[in-house]
Amino acid sequence: MVIGAGAAGLMCAATAAYQGHRVLVLDHANKAGKKILMSGGGRCNFTNLNTAPEHFISANPHFCKSALKRYSPWHFVELIERHGIEHVEKAPGQLFCAESAKEILGVLLTECEWAGAEIRLNTAIRQVRQTARGFGLTTSAGVIQCAKLVVACGGLSIPTMGASGFGYQLAEQFGLSVLPTRAGLVPFTLQPEDKAWLTQLSGISTEVVARAAEAAFAEPMLITHRGLSGPAMLQVSSFWTPGQPVTVDWLPQLDDPFALLIEERRAHPNRGLERWLRQYFSQRLAAALVDQFGWQGILQQFSNERLATVAGTLKGWAFKPSGTEGYRTAEVTLGGVDTDAISSKNFAVKEVPGLHFIGEVLDVTGQLGGFNFQWAWACGWCTGMAL
Ligand code: FDA
Repeated sequence: MVIGAGAAGLMCAATAAYQGHRVLVLDHANKAGKKILMSGGGRCNFTNLNTAPEHFISANPHFCKSALKRYSPWHFVELIERHGIEHVEKAPGQLFCAESAKEILGVLLTECEWAGAEIRLNTAIRQVRQTARGFGLTTSAGVIQCAKLVVACGGLSIPTMGASGFGYQLAEQFGLSVLPTRAGLVPFTLQPEDKAWLTQLSGISTEVVARAAEAAFAEPMLITHRGLSGPAMLQVSSFWTPGQPVTVDWLPQLDDPFALLIEERRAHPNRGLERWLRQYFSQRLAAALVDQFGWQGILQQFSNERLATVAGTLKGWAFKPSGTEGYRTAEVTLGGVDTDAISSKNFAVKEVPGLHFIGEVLDVTGQLGGFNFQWAWACGWCTGMAL
């Protein structure tokens, strides 16, 4: 039995059914794979060809290695190509459906059907008990017995898509520890002083290097009417600790803007700084930077020290987010079921025979770029093969 008809659960169900097991997937939602459908802007970034353990955050960075090695991105590509699904590489390694995320869900549902795995939706699970023959589940459709139970009910992100803390609850019930959870790959909200100037620029996207703690990502940053988003911000949000700053290099393409500013002042002493900034930013953003940081006036009025401050601000503007948008919009949940008690080969709970945890419910979280689905496929497949 598999709880959760999401990415990991469906992959596990089809794989186990092909091994000859009778498989039943239960999900409380009215539709399977809702997150697959909404992923990658409707095109599903279903894997990343550059998947490697360093793209995952976990208290045990070694835990993900075995499954990722055994089920590689190429295995998944081979699967979808067998179903005739076309894909495109949007950024290096990042594979998306050429048409629609529906196709990925279609592949998984077809595989479940061909293999004979049954999926029951709209089924709430009220209680799980360990029995002499395995597990007894009290559900909204009556009591169901199974010899083996795979928990694939995901994390807390996007509750409106069926996310619940049920997997963590089950883990605790069986004596496993659950590491503190928090929203990851999520936009930042801003303190009032930053919100005042930035949100007027809503819709502007610019290439930056964003940093939080030890992590740095060279990606676009998107200014929204609520705060800062875009890949750069989503990536660093997974490494950010509340109260700590995030740093933005607005000019990652320039190693030494100070030298260029000195040269600009020499060549065009009567020009304003905005004109120089417009080589790199839209007019609106250039004007807003001048206003916000008090960089008005012509360049000959700028001392070397002031130009150094301009260069320093552009290369390392630090802001303290007021928080994040939280689970409401987060792509993933950091933390989760502690991997210490789980086998990295077959995802079995070492102390509870027949019980497995897979996918996002575990304390393994990928960076942006298709890594989270690759993790779901890999641990779903390894578990399905091992049941
Ligand atoms: P998943 O969340 O997929 O499935 C869990 C299932 O369990 C759901 O069907 C849910 O209804 C069910 N469930 C929960 N509680 C239950 C209960 N109490 N009883 C019964 N059933 C229950 N990743 C990536 O690699 N590329 C991408 O492009 C994106 N894009 C993206 C966009 C958005 C908007 C989000 C929110 C997320 C992404 N992700 C992503 C992340 C990716 O969707 C996520 O990591 C995987 O779906 C996790 O797979 P799981 O199977 O573990 O959980």
